[in-house]
Amino acid sequence: MPSRWSPESWRARPIEQVPVYPDQGALDAVEAQLATFPPLVFAGEARELKAKLARVAAGEAFLLQGGDCAESFAEHRADTIRDFFRVFLQMAVVLTYAGGSPVVKVGRIAGQFAKPRSSATETQDGKELPSYRGDIINGIDFTEAARVPDPQRMLMAYRQSAATLNLLRAFAHGGYANLEHVHRWNLGFVKDSPAGHHYQEVAEQIAETLRFMRAIGLNADNTPQLRTTSFYTSHEALLLGYEQAFTRIDSTSGDWYATSGHFLWAGDRTRQLDRAHVEYLRGIKNPVGTKIGPSLDADGLLKLIDALDPQNEPGRLTLICRFGADKVGKHLPALIRAVEREGRAIVWACDPMHGNTIKAGSSGYKTRPFDLILSEVESFFDIHRSEGTHAGGIHVEMTGQNVTECVGGAKAVTETDLSDRYHTHCDPRLNADQSLELAFIVAERLKRDREGRPEPEISLAAGE
Ligand code: PEP
Ligand code: CO
Repeated sequence: MPSRWSPESWRARPIEQVPVYPDQGALDAVEAQLATFPPLVFAGEARELKAKLARVAAGEAFLLQGGDCAESFAEHRADTIRDFFRVFLQMAVVLTYAGGSPVVKVGRIAGQFAKPRSSATETQDGKELPSYRGDIINGIDFTEAARVPDPQRMLMAYRQSAATLNLLRAFAHGGYANLEHVHRWNLGFVKDSPAGHHYQEVAEQIAETLRFMRAIGLNADNTPQLRTTSFYTSHEALLLGYEQAFTRIDSTSGDWYATSGHFLWAGDRTRQLDRAHVEYLRGIKNPVGTKIGPSLDADGLLKLIDALDPQNEPGRLTLICRFGADKVGKHLPALIRAVEREGRAIVWACDPMHGNTIKAGSSGYKTRPFDLILSEVESFFDIHRSEGTHAGGIHVEMTGQNVTECVGGAKAVTETDLSDRYHTHCDPRLNADQSLELAFIVAERLKRDREGRPEPEISLAAGE
């Protein structure tokens, strides 16, 4: 029998990746204050997302999850959020229309601030300092002062998340996501790229369909699916003191929900069975995920599934696979077979980013070759096809900006370009062109894999 869960039961477990705050009293005071603040999301929304993810688990929908590796205080601007949302909508439209699948849209946004690090310290020019752990914990500047964990940063992260979410809700419901604007999402530098041209064709076809629908009396005024879209937030549940403060009882069901975001996940470095992060996640009723990488075997995976989803509830658990293009073929099939053998209803998502990070030649920039990203996605689809299971989604680090962080793509970013617009606070992200290009390739796979299967019910909106 598992021991009794409470929002603070994680505190009795060994914990990884925990920052050391110099002033425990100041930390306690901030956490107590956060616990009095309004929730960012509602339990009912988390339940709605879980029901949509259940459709993904059943092979009837596709999960699109993406956003920054790390949100930052410095780049909190309306245009950055709008540009992200715009390319995310474009991707969703491509997957829905060209891929023929309802799309569940989940951003890595409005709370994605805390970062696990492979080393506790960082050395530059012979000087060693504590690693940067995300703006919610310490500062990115390479100075002693910036790297001291500061609990006040949690207050700033909360306020930024609230403002970001407010804008996202307005975009999703206030007219921006109206399908009649499908052309307008293709603005800026994207429209002149190969993916932008391809998108233009899809937008034309959708506009044509909408004209037909208007002619038979269906329009944005009488069909809300055309006018609005559902968008959910997610982040890694790394900083558990912050998460605990936003863990609240839902008055409708009497259950505990995380209210800092709709969907939370455990990272590849914090998914140990009996440790703090899994302990926290097991007790909240939200849909949750865990990253899984090459160090996990089938037995370990089944134990993790038992801990996080003991009731085998469809939509509860998403396995976010991040093996690397060269390793996915070796590891994934055995895991899928174990899950199938046990009859577990989970969502399989592919994170083609975190297993494909390399250091670029002479410049030393951390980058990800677009070819390797595609290769892992293609293998993920191939493997699911041959196992007879559903490749349920993708999980990507991306931005709506024209950054140069991942090499490759149709409008090729080269190693020498990396220094031009390398803005990420943590890992290299797909830029808007690369994101859209990836969406087209995934849509093609969805279409191909659907052939020969019964037609799913197609949602006409930019998603669900
Ligand atoms: C991340 O998603 O940014 C991350 C750190 O991933 P992982 O836990 O898979 O390494
Ligand atoms: Co990352």
